[in-house]
Amino acid sequence: MSSFKVLFCDFCVVLLVGVTLALTEEKASTTTTTTVDDTPKGNCSCGGFPTSTPEVDAKPLLAQTPGLIVKCVDEGATTCKNLCTALATATKAKGPEILCNKLKEANELKLSAFYKICDRPWVYAEMTAEEPLCCDGGKVKVCPSVEKLNATSSVIIDAKTVM
Ligand SMILES: *[C@@H]1O[C@H](CO)[C@@H](O)[C@H](O)[C@H]1NC(C)=O
Ligand SMILES: *[C@@H]1O[C@H](CO)[C@@H](O)[C@H](O)[C@H]1NC(C)=O
Repeated sequence: MSSFKVLFCDFCVVLLVGVTLALTEEKASTTTTTTVDDTPKGNCSCGGFPTSTPEVDAKPLLAQTPGLIVKCVDEGATTCKNLCTALATATKAKGPEILCNKLKEANELKLSAFYKICDRPWVYAEMTAEEPLCCDGGKVKVCPSVEKLNATSSVIIDAKTVM
């Protein structure tokens, strides 16, 4: 079980390194091939929302700006989306502790990954957590929905044992 987790995280590191390399290459090739490039550039930000369909002016529960500057066009949006999904995958693989540490409180939260470039609005990165997250004072706690499932399955097991 734990070796699986380690393997999985190694994979995440490979993934992140791969993305970083790809981004560096992209940067290098654009600077060498284009002499004059007036396309405005801006930050790529990654954020987590409690739903995949937030209100237009909603603020993310979590956000970070990894320092990637992209062109303020669709090409830059794609690069940003790829970085944010890789970041979300890596965060998920590291476990819920990191998220609870940042969120402090959460109740049956299923985070959806979003990305944003320049002054554009947040866009859903087509990634939502499957498992609900519950946090209390920065610590992970078992969600009531999971506890309920747990109780049901142990009752079934008990019934079988009795028969
Ligand atoms: C990107 O964000 C950083 C820190 O948030 C800021 O200092 C920098 O000016 C931003 N760059 C652009 C091009 O907006
Ligand atoms: C109930 O859930 C907890 C936490 O996930 C787990 O440690 C425990 O083994 C589960 N109990 C049963 C009966 O499945």
